[in-house]
Amino acid sequence: MKKILFFVISSIIILNFSLSETQLNKKQSSVEKRINKILSKMTLEEKVGQLVQFSLSGSGKEYKEKKEKYLTLIRKGLIGSFINVKGVKERNSIQKVAVAESRLGIPLIFGIDVIHGYRTIFPIPLAQAASWDLELVKKSARIAAIEATAGGIDWTFAPMIDITRDPRWGRIAEGYGEDPFLASRMSFAAVKGFQDEDISSPTSLVACLKHYVAYGAAIGGRDYNSVDISEKTLREIYLPPYEAGIKAGALTVMSAFNSINGIPASANSFTLRKILKNEFSFKGFVVSDWESIKETINHGFSKNEKDAALKGLIAGVDMDMVSGVYLKYLPKLVREGKIDEKILNDSVKRVLRVKILKGLFENPYKNEKRADEILTNEKRNFERKVAQRSIILLKNKNNVLPLKKFPEKIAVIGPLAKDKKTPLGCWSLYGRSEDVISAFEGIKNKVKNRAKIFYSKGSEIRGFIKGGIEEAVKISKNADIVLLFLGDNISGEDASLAHLKLPEPQLKLIREISKNTRSPIITIIIDGRPRPINSIIKYSDAVLLAWYLGIESGNAIADVLFGDYNPSAKLPVTIPRAIGQIPIYYNHENTGRPLIKNKPGNFSRYRDESNEPLFPFGFGLSYTKFSYSNLKISPEKAHSNGKIKVSVKVKNTGNYDGEEIVELYIRDLVSSIIRPVKELKGFRKIKLKAGESRVISFILDEKLLGFHYKGNNITVEPGKFKVWVGPNSQEGLEGEFTILE
Ligand code: BGC
Repeated sequence: MKKILFFVISSIIILNFSLSETQLNKKQSSVEKRINKILSKMTLEEKVGQLVQFSLSGSGKEYKEKKEKYLTLIRKGLIGSFINVKGVKERNSIQKVAVAESRLGIPLIFGIDVIHGYRTIFPIPLAQAASWDLELVKKSARIAAIEATAGGIDWTFAPMIDITRDPRWGRIAEGYGEDPFLASRMSFAAVKGFQDEDISSPTSLVACLKHYVAYGAAIGGRDYNSVDISEKTLREIYLPPYEAGIKAGALTVMSAFNSINGIPASANSFTLRKILKNEFSFKGFVVSDWESIKETINHGFSKNEKDAALKGLIAGVDMDMVSGVYLKYLPKLVREGKIDEKILNDSVKRVLRVKILKGLFENPYKNEKRADEILTNEKRNFERKVAQRSIILLKNKNNVLPLKKFPEKIAVIGPLAKDKKTPLGCWSLYGRSEDVISAFEGIKNKVKNRAKIFYSKGSEIRGFIKGGIEEAVKISKNADIVLLFLGDNISGEDASLAHLKLPEPQLKLIREISKNTRSPIITIIIDGRPRPINSIIKYSDAVLLAWYLGIESGNAIADVLFGDYNPSAKLPVTIPRAIGQIPIYYNHENTGRPLIKNKPGNFSRYRDESNEPLFPFGFGLSYTKFSYSNLKISPEKAHSNGKIKVSVKVKNTGNYDGEEIVELYIRDLVSSIIRPVKELKGFRKIKLKAGESRVISFILDEKLLGFHYKGNNITVEPGKFKVWVGPNSQEGLEGEFTILE
């Protein structure tokens, strides 16, 4: 018999977990009372004002004029929030106008994008996901929150938790990769880090889950493009990180730019009201993305600005980022009876709820004397740790790495070797390139005067340098080891690419060096997305995928090259062999004609390329080796509400101490809705000394074994399941268990 489980998410999630249930109820009802009291005093215009956010940035006369205009609106209670205001003093002075000069004195909430660090810039989220380390992700968000609040910020537009299966999409860099299970864990950790246990504390930053939803499924990987998606894929792949973030207590969500099955995400009552606010019991507020309510006109969904405002609010977007259409039209729409005031009130209450929980009424101003908490040595050192743990070793022929003895002559080559801007990644509004340790500097710091370093840029990222390749070849011929820094600096928003191979000047550079030198070539890729790097792999003895690693980038890379850190990161995305394979992801379904090697017939395949990725999801090497043995499953038969324990012995059989990410995958072999060939359902990062072994156990329960069946219900169907525990999505020990009728 099919068992359907209903998972009702408690509405207490937005409050402090450390309180008892009675305390929670009390706190909650006192918050609601306060909200209603404020609401009862508000005029229609003041209510709408809470739903209005404007951007204030720039300098000089233009800034002054803009600010004056906004201050007039603030005095009338017509603005609820700002984005992009910089500096704690400036923030406080604007806040003072809201608190002291508006009729009701409701404080403003100030938001900005602090995505992977404020001034201490951390690895991009995709790189952090490669660490599979939830504590690191949480702590880096915590540090970002401490610094950002010292800088006068209440609210960050992070974490970005869009799943994507398409590396053409530049924003793949901002998220946690292709897998809903891993991304959900990351989402939970990041929210906890930003908001901390007590959201009203001065160092806690309100989080915003974005971009709701399915933004990463943009057709063709082109940013802002339409999304056509089944409810099954939406619920199984794209929604889980949001549900996890809400469980962690995220107080805001951002509605996306894209349309979903013909309805813009910022006017979509199915995703916003039915799923987010009802099924997930989300009690915070939804802010639109930048002008995304107004853009529903361009989508061909709204007739004009007034229609866009109507559709946005009705669908459940509570706050209008920047476009101004709520301010202009909501009062009229309510007066004309087109919007029921109850709907407006619900949105206003949500905004007030967040402001109350954040403690803005009690503490509207931020302490202006916390500058010394920003970019401290301790934070820098922690950043280095995160960066080390984000670097993936993809190839290591003949164990050329680590560089145990200092080679006499080292050639450092490539357009990214001395680059101090690219490692800051795609979102670093407060990051400074002078804070960044380049790869070249990191190597120099490590080597000191123990080796001679020769440098040549070789080429630009996308262009040739006259005589550049010849010069690089010359120094590489003369060196004992070649460290080649290749990659790209196009990444993030509006950074989609149709060509994913590295630009030809860089490919020529590596080809020519490989043709002309016998010294080992170690290529370090500094990049924001996985791409077909077949020739890089072919021409290099070792390859490190080093992403955009933040301010300690160069030191972290040197730590890995010279063996002061043994790499442990693993891919949070699949690396394709060819662009034509995209979208390629490990958790695909089987077809009626799966490829069987060496068997004649018609199969689901490419005639000119393998079906296999270049590197599978979950893959990453270490300087040591880990063996897996003794897979045990107990019991091997259980009812759907039972628990199945899966354990395995992992041994470090190599010569170095190291960390291993142990991954568990399942497959439900026969089901009423086809299940993927593999699904990640557990992982554990462990440290093992050389020679040491440990038994690792996982518990599989109905939540992990089930799948979405009709709406948000989770179903576990009886039948056989396969389970694998291993080092990546393609290797591992295989077992089986049965869920009984
Ligand atoms: C981006 C968001 C960002 C917002 C505010 C938009 O263009 O899509 O991710 O939070 O701008 O800066």
